[in-house]
Amino acid sequence: MWTITGASTEYTIGDQLTLHAWGPHGVSDGPSPYSFSGKVQYLLRGDVAAVEYAPDGERPFLGADLAVAGEVLTLALGEVAFDDGLRADLHDERTGLSLTLRWRFAPGTDVVERWAVVHNGGDAPVALTRLGSAGFSVPTPSGATLHYLWGQWAQEFTPASVRLTRGCFEIGSAQGVTGHQFSPYLAVENGDAAYGIQLAWTGSWQIVADADVAGLTRIRAGRQLSDGPVTLSPGESVTTPIAAGVYSADGLDGLARQWHAYERHLAGERLGRTRKVIYNSWEATAFDVTAAGQLALADVAASLGVETFVVDDGWFVGRPDDHSGLGDWTPDPAKFPDGFGAFVDAVRAKGLEFGLWVEPEMVNPKSALYSDHPDWVYQASGRPRTTIRNQYLLNLGREDVYAFVRDTLDRLLTTYPISYLKWDFNRPRTEADRAVDDLDGAHVRNLYRLLDHLRAAHPDVTVEGCAAGGARVDLAIAARADVVWPSDNTAPLDRLRIQDGFLSAHAPHLMSSWVTDSEGMFDERQRSLAFRFVLAGAGVLGIGADITRWSAGTRASAAAWVERYKGVRDVIHRGVVHRIGGPGQRRCAVQYTLGSRVVVLAWNAGGLDGLDRVPARDIRLPLRGLDPAARYRHGSVSYSGSHLMAAGLPVRWTPTHDADLIELERTPALL
Ligand code: DGJ
Repeated sequence: MWTITGASTEYTIGDQLTLHAWGPHGVSDGPSPYSFSGKVQYLLRGDVAAVEYAPDGERPFLGADLAVAGEVLTLALGEVAFDDGLRADLHDERTGLSLTLRWRFAPGTDVVERWAVVHNGGDAPVALTRLGSAGFSVPTPSGATLHYLWGQWAQEFTPASVRLTRGCFEIGSAQGVTGHQFSPYLAVENGDAAYGIQLAWTGSWQIVADADVAGLTRIRAGRQLSDGPVTLSPGESVTTPIAAGVYSADGLDGLARQWHAYERHLAGERLGRTRKVIYNSWEATAFDVTAAGQLALADVAASLGVETFVVDDGWFVGRPDDHSGLGDWTPDPAKFPDGFGAFVDAVRAKGLEFGLWVEPEMVNPKSALYSDHPDWVYQASGRPRTTIRNQYLLNLGREDVYAFVRDTLDRLLTTYPISYLKWDFNRPRTEADRAVDDLDGAHVRNLYRLLDHLRAAHPDVTVEGCAAGGARVDLAIAARADVVWPSDNTAPLDRLRIQDGFLSAHAPHLMSSWVTDSEGMFDERQRSLAFRFVLAGAGVLGIGADITRWSAGTRASAAAWVERYKGVRDVIHRGVVHRIGGPGQRRCAVQYTLGSRVVVLAWNAGGLDGLDRVPARDIRLPLRGLDPAARYRHGSVSYSGSHLMAAGLPVRWTPTHDADLIELERTPALL
């Protein structure tokens, strides 16, 4: 038996690399809940075992994690050793394939990182048709309730669940990108406990839950090889992406906290950088970018307390709209008649840092780049190319394309004093040359190389990940971007739901959000400025409205909100999150706790039904995770932790007061 230990959980592997136990410290001390005690009729014991990694040929009934074309695998277990976590070596005599499996708790967290390395030690090429990262087994004696996040443009991170008693449930992307449709996230509820799986991969992927008939659900996570096998020549190796698994005794909200802690770990020392309040021009000016127009916005932004001014799409040559220009990353002299450098200096002279939008993996057919390099875009051999949003996707897996993107970004970031880069990606890959091996892997690996290069060569630049809203949000991006853009839908009530889904899997320090005047697509009811600031302040605050149209009164209120937010953002970005309300009860607040400070963002998303005009009781927000014996002060009022958790923090909403930011400070307990 091999046990690895996380902050509060442990993971124990037993005989023949089967899972013995996974749960709180001490859970392994007893018989395994996975062992099959009844008779195994008409099956082999291996067919019902909670195998950690299933090579094709050894496990015919539920899906395999690893398969090769034209062969079955018989992997003999070699050494198992504690080695930065746990390592197991396996070998297939017939093909010469070696497999190394890895397990490791990310330091200071409860997230088990798992991955596999496949090496071809034989003398013939081997075509891998399945290349999973890991399988996680969960005891589900009466079937599994699976939770996942689905979406589309403007509706990302929608939580949904499905009851799986037997058979299989699959989510994924075959689009060469994480995708709008599903997040690489799955949670399994088993009573109060919950198990979560995420995959750190930004290309095509799949997560499959297989529920057997005897009360075991096995979740396979890995790349989806929808473009064909990955071929390993003799001597070559491939490493899978990390599949991350986490256990929580506190259900889905507890899982969310575990994911937040893990993403803070992934951010490392960059978590300590203050995430600045940005202004973004997209909703105000779209492609109609001019120096004068942007400087007018920057003037107001500076007066509101904004710290970074980001010029979105439309700043480069040949870009009057989305039909042309992508690939030609030179500022448009017609839009910046005094030069782009002078424009950037003028923004910075207002006390703002400068940010710029790019979409470096893309090209419009109408561009100089495409005229020069028509062969740089993806194409299925001999077949027509497909444009989406009038653009093609560059084959970033090519070294010349990689060098072009790297040099373009280096040039922009060294020519101008740019502090913030918004990296967009507005179309999926729709075709690929199947004769080329592992296009998906080559693209994704070069994307990571580029993001890693940015951090090394331009460490002070904040990178925002974006993909037509939230189509590229996953753990691998969370490790390489400072913030991400969850959705283009910024309308208050629509975004409230999107952000709630986002926070179930991802941390607030990543969640970029703007205050805008946008109308809802799904729920058009307007909300106050306070509501919109509370909402956008739940992560990394930005403003995206046309603020030149805001009245003096609105500007003054906005400036006060920016100031309040700055006073609590460290708690929001690094605090422990409890989402208050739901399931069954509408979500009505998010609580962030860091040391002695508690910040509650609360809102009324309901009908604003004039309750304030009739005798009514206050709404109570039951806070979580406080010290029951301690006292918490809000202004001149002091509550016991016990009261705040059991009776709740009182709030009262009116048609004009529909949201608030409430900061409480813990004071020493009374003896
Ligand atoms: C899609 C992004 O999600 C938007 O925020 C904006 O940057 C546009 N692209 C620009 O084309």
